[in-house]
Amino acid sequence: MAEPQTPLLSIRGLEVRYETDEAITHAVNGINLDINVGETVGLVGETGAGKTTTALAVMRLLPHRTGKITEGCILFRGEDVLRKSNGEMRQMRGERISMIFQDPMTSLNPTMTMGEQIRESLEIHNKGMSAALTDARVDELLTMVGIPPRRKHEYPHQFSGGMKQRIVIAIALACRPELLIADEPTTALDVTIQAQVLALMNELKESMRTSMILITHDLGVVSEMCDKVAIMYAGEIIERGSADDILDDGPHHPYTVGLFNSIPDIERESKRLSPIAGLMPDPAALPGGCKFHPRCGDAADACRSLAPPPFVSGEHIIACHKFGSSNGGRI
Ligand SMILES: Nc1ncnc2c1ncn2[C@@H]1O[C@H](COP(=O)(O)OP(=O)(O)OP(=O)(O)O)[C@@H](O)[C@H]1O
Ligand SMILES: [Mg+2]
Repeated sequence: MAEPQTPLLSIRGLEVRYETDEAITHAVNGINLDINVGETVGLVGETGAGKTTTALAVMRLLPHRTGKITEGCILFRGEDVLRKSNGEMRQMRGERISMIFQDPMTSLNPTMTMGEQIRESLEIHNKGMSAALTDARVDELLTMVGIPPRRKHEYPHQFSGGMKQRIVIAIALACRPELLIADEPTTALDVTIQAQVLALMNELKESMRTSMILITHDLGVVSEMCDKVAIMYAGEIIERGSADDILDDGPHHPYTVGLFNSIPDIERESKRLSPIAGLMPDPAALPGGCKFHPRCGDAADACRSLAPPPFVSGEHIIACHKFGSSNGGRI
């Protein structure tokens, strides 16, 4: 049998809160997640599920007054990210872990040319690299994302949305990170450009063996891109498995079934969209028991009072009372 791999990133029992004068928001509530080298893991869930918060915790970029990691650990190649100094973390971001943010414009500076911005991210992490070599790398990165290098003298407003997003990807990849966290990298783009950007990310992943956490609402994107999938609801991972486990007809968490039913099916035109009724609970006042029970058609008494035990079938894990328990741990 093959030796079990040590994960590149291992998240254990992570809890994150936002504390303000008005409320304590329980944004992430004890999640576990492993990402192996070369693997793409999809983090999927409705708005407010805690996906971006999880990513910001890994990057150590939570807002520092209000965002607090209250439990758990995050290991990157076995090193505890939460124990690193700010200086060590700054070096790690960009050099080993990069993030593409939900809104590409937040990561571009409107007053600098695109070339200058790529150059800057290369220089931060490659002190002493000669000017000629840096220039050559800028051209190489632009070519890699399909932008003619001569356009490096132009400013962000001179590019289309899809081009800007591809340049953001070039910047994120400038330092050849071991892990790329892409937070809804294509949500703001139209369908054709979305497909191009995803294909590009897949190519880059293959050629650089970059591991990836891909955050998305979109199960179509998951089927194109992901090796493994974690479905998040109200700050918890409620189902997890290989992409096949999640996309196949097998047993699923009622929330996952609801997510599937809310995407259009092009092959079966007659299929109607049936989004899940109700709203995600307020993370400042989460319900007891299973957090999905107020919206679940199958909810029974146990669901209202007890946290669901995980049902485990190989790598496929579902936290739902319907399936009972086959192990005592947490998903
Ligand atoms: N800076 C903040 N201060 C207070 N609460 C926050 C902050 N950022 C996020 N939250 C809250 O934390 C919860 C999780 O938010 P998060 O942004 O992680 O969700 P998400 O899954 O990324 O959603 P989306 O799909 O809309 O991007 C939400 O209830 C959100 O309102
Ligand atoms: Mg988000």
